Amino acid sequence: MKLVHTVSELQTQLDQARASKRIVFVPTMGALHEGHLELVTQAVKVENAFVVMSIFVNPAQFGKGEDFDRYPRTLDADIARLEELPHAPDLLFVPSVEEIYGTEETEISPRAGAVGVVFEGAARPGHFDGMLHIVSWFFRTIEPEVAVFGAKDAQQVYLIKRMVHREFKDSIAIIEVETVRELDGLAKSSRNRFLGEAARAFAPVIYQTLLGVKEELQAGIKPSLALEQARGALEAQPLAKLDYLALVDKNTFQPIADDFTGFAQLLVAVTVSGVRLIDNITFSIQEPA
Ligand code: PAF
Repeated sequence: MKLVHTVSELQTQLDQARASKRIVFVPTMGALHEGHLELVTQAVKVENAFVVMSIFVNPAQFGKGEDFDRYPRTLDADIARLEELPHAPDLLFVPSVEEIYGTEETEISPRAGAVGVVFEGAARPGHFDGMLHIVSWFFRTIEPEVAVFGAKDAQQVYLIKRMVHREFKDSIAIIEVETVRELDGLAKSSRNRFLGEAARAFAPVIYQTLLGVKEELQAGIKPSLALEQARGALEAQPLAKLDYLALVDKNTFQPIADDFTGFAQLLVAVTVSGVRLIDNITFSIQEPA
């Protein structure tokens, strides 16, 4: 695995690789856990792949008062984890903030629009604009054939697929990698390290709630009723502060009505003892027999 820090070093490596290989891109912010390593595992499976991973904590996607400074930066440990893999990425791009944003004010684009201000976007104003900006920058700079993202960030994946369709004429294939979970079901996240003992013991209830709602919907209970009951149960938990539990159409990211059939995504965000956790599952809702 070769480590580069500048765009010019990156381009030199990419020019050589592009002649004979397919560029597969895995963007991350570092603090790598098994979820990120699974992205690499899926990336190397692409035929004839030259895998480029980026590690960049993007200031534009952190709002005021958010955890940009507190975000864990663990580059040496990240590199060690990648090098232990049976197939590490071919290239690791770790730019500085100046390398990407320069010293002048940057115009943030493209914008996430209405989908960018609900759910995670409501809790983190500007987050999805900043996220799309950097992913678009990487896509224009790296020009990958394939890019790999984790399904845990459902709203992010939806917005990136939409951007690839609108701005990149579907020229980049997006691989959405299933969420990697702890044995008790908690989705792996860089934030899990901030959970105290009691919060960590409670956290699997989030995934159990998602599975419970799915079971009820598939047994024919109306979405509005199943959601109301599950919200009530989560709100009654002393350690948890529910932000949202919502059911959306996976294709449009719009909340669904009780008569919906098709692929639904059940989204949740809960703050557990001060640590904000998100999760989701996707499943199909059929017409009652
Ligand atoms: O999911 C993340 O880690 C980030 O949002 C991403 C896609 C690397 C952009 O900074």
